[in-house]
Amino acid sequence: MSSLQAQQGNSTQEASHQDTQSLNILTLFPDAVTPYFNIGVTGRAIDRKVIDLHCVNFRDYAEGNYKAVDDLPFGGGAGMVIQAEPVARALDDLVEKGRNLGTVIMMAPTGKVFTQADAERLSQKSALTFICGRYEGIDARLNIEYVNEVFSIGDYILSGGELAAMVMIDAIARLKPGVLNNAESATYESHSAKSGALLEHPHYTRPATWRGHSVPSVLMSGHHARIQTWRREESLKTTARVRPELLENIDLTPEERSMIEQIRRGE
Ligand code: ADE
Repeated sequence: MSSLQAQQGNSTQEASHQDTQSLNILTLFPDAVTPYFNIGVTGRAIDRKVIDLHCVNFRDYAEGNYKAVDDLPFGGGAGMVIQAEPVARALDDLVEKGRNLGTVIMMAPTGKVFTQADAERLSQKSALTFICGRYEGIDARLNIEYVNEVFSIGDYILSGGELAAMVMIDAIARLKPGVLNNAESATYESHSAKSGALLEHPHYTRPATWRGHSVPSVLMSGHHARIQTWRREESLKTTARVRPELLENIDLTPEERSMIEQIRRGE
């Protein structure tokens, strides 16, 4: 257990669904982060006290006139590295002010790739703290002392961890009960556990014919069972074409298997 976890007690205990989830973000650019969360689904989650968001600029914890947080990398090479100490002080101060840090997450391209399963797991935690690096990242020793998990949002390099943390928080917050107006829409969408990790079927709304393209007639039939079958087939077809690797862990009927084989053969 890290020193910070010891201070906090058992930091990663799970919250009950009714509790407000505390979300802390440590960044050099709080102004880039906060406005996004005040709108839409996350804005509603804040208004309803489902999440409580707190942004900290760790530059406020740097020393000296210039409040520099970065320095040259040991061993040489391009770019600058953020020092561990200002970030550590910002984390300690949050704890001293009575905020629960919960699971401390470092955003970095070297982390494990964030998935919907992670969003579902992390949405159950009482508190999460996201650390956003810039430049070449943060001194690796911070991870030993403070960090529970390291996450990347994909195999590309961003200018900093802010967008990545925002992506994660958005995906997590919308899973909290009472955030989406129609709770069903979080349960059966692409990548959710209940949809079996398939990509979703296409959606249509009025008009029934748009620029000469008609809505598939089965959707107008009112026949619930046939509509369900059509949606499952469309999900399987899209997944087989776009993300075939997702089908590896899915239970398929013999008919579904042969349909997917046909798609693989390009029929
Ligand atoms: N920082 C820079 N690139 C990133 C990525 N892909 N995911 C998370 N944090 C990052």
